[in-house]
Amino acid sequence: MFDLPEDIKEIQGLARDFARNEILPGAAARDHSHSFPAEQVAKLAEMGFLGMFVPEQYGGAGLSTLAYVVALEEICYADASVGVTMSVNNSLACWPILAFGTEAQKQKYLPDLATGRKLGCYALTEPDAGSDAGAQRTKATPLPGGGWSLTGNKIWITNAPYAQVAVAYANLAPEERHRGVCAFIAESHWPGYKVGKPEDKLGITSSATSELIFEDMHVPAENLLGGERQGFKIAMATLDGGRIGIAAQALGIAQRAFDLAVAHAKSRIAFGKPIGANQAIQWMIADMATRIESARLLTWRAAVYKDGDDKARASHMCSMAKLAASETANFCADRALQIHGGYGFSKEYEVERLFRDARITTLYEGTSEIQRIVIARAYLG
Ligand code: CAA
Repeated sequence: MFDLPEDIKEIQGLARDFARNEILPGAAARDHSHSFPAEQVAKLAEMGFLGMFVPEQYGGAGLSTLAYVVALEEICYADASVGVTMSVNNSLACWPILAFGTEAQKQKYLPDLATGRKLGCYALTEPDAGSDAGAQRTKATPLPGGGWSLTGNKIWITNAPYAQVAVAYANLAPEERHRGVCAFIAESHWPGYKVGKPEDKLGITSSATSELIFEDMHVPAENLLGGERQGFKIAMATLDGGRIGIAAQALGIAQRAFDLAVAHAKSRIAFGKPIGANQAIQWMIADMATRIESARLLTWRAAVYKDGDDKARASHMCSMAKLAASETANFCADRALQIHGGYGFSKEYEVERLFRDARITTLYEGTSEIQRIVIARAYLG
């Protein structure tokens, strides 16, 4: 597959028009004021972009992973903060409920999440369980009458300040590491569910990130997601899909950085000619374009695998896509800033925001080093 099918091109066009007309104009102001893009997220919900692969019977758009990554790249071209809000709701909240939920859980939670009536988050990371996700300390204690009590702290939870539904992980037996982990669907209004301090971040400043604190939070038996002790596999399978979303986010940032760099290289005059006439600038543009095209092809291919039957291959393809696209985003944002010279260092120029926003893409949903572990294990065992 070397080009997009017509129906996906239509979704791309829809996402592109919306992103460039309605998201891009306010992106810099939201970045400066750190304000959550509530209006833009509400419009994404109306467009069906918050539950893109949720089947129509549960209120979603019933589209493919390829449609999702193509649309998400366009949204992130305009504003990666809006994009990550969309990505977490789709990949990390809707998807595990769709893939592992009971029929009752799907009917109860998916229609609200897919239509934006509620926002979802994914509570995995803890102060001592980041890259080592199996080291979950949040404790799940069975209650005498059924259900569990959850106690523990989650950190860097994207969407947490606005989310009403959390896919949350806790451990029945922390000494057994990942083998004791369970996944639960939690609701923000439950006693013991507390949103903690918001993070003051380097980039994606208008996305909302905070701690989540569970203090003797009672979870009814019917809110266990998947089987008991199946939580780690659910977390990992969910992250396969999340990682391809971050690949799409990174591509959006990279493409925007590239477009701004080309425009500047053509219009900025130095020594009596556009700076793009210099070979030093030409090589930067050539390297950026080549890396973007490569990462995009890999991302599209991983998306097709994600919807196919070879789940093992899909897993490391998603990691490859994230690794390639996130490193590309950082490369392109850095070169775009360099091409802008001193202007690129100013907050008045968009490349400054792209440079900061790109930085998260090699960190969250697994660092580049973790992606390399996943990829290497696919070949070496
Ligand atoms: N799908 C299903 N099962 C999987 C799997 C996958 N993709 N990957 C691993 N598993 C299974 C394994 O088969 C194994 O099963 P058994 O116990 O039956 O043998 C089990 O899970 C444990 O696997 P590993 O031995 O590979 O586990 P590990 O402790 O060595 O960790 C890791 C592997 C890849 C390093 C993992 O810990 C990891 O991905 N770490 C990074 C965590 C991460 O990405 N966090 C992101 C937080 S969310 C976020 O960032 C959201 C946001 O802000 C936007």
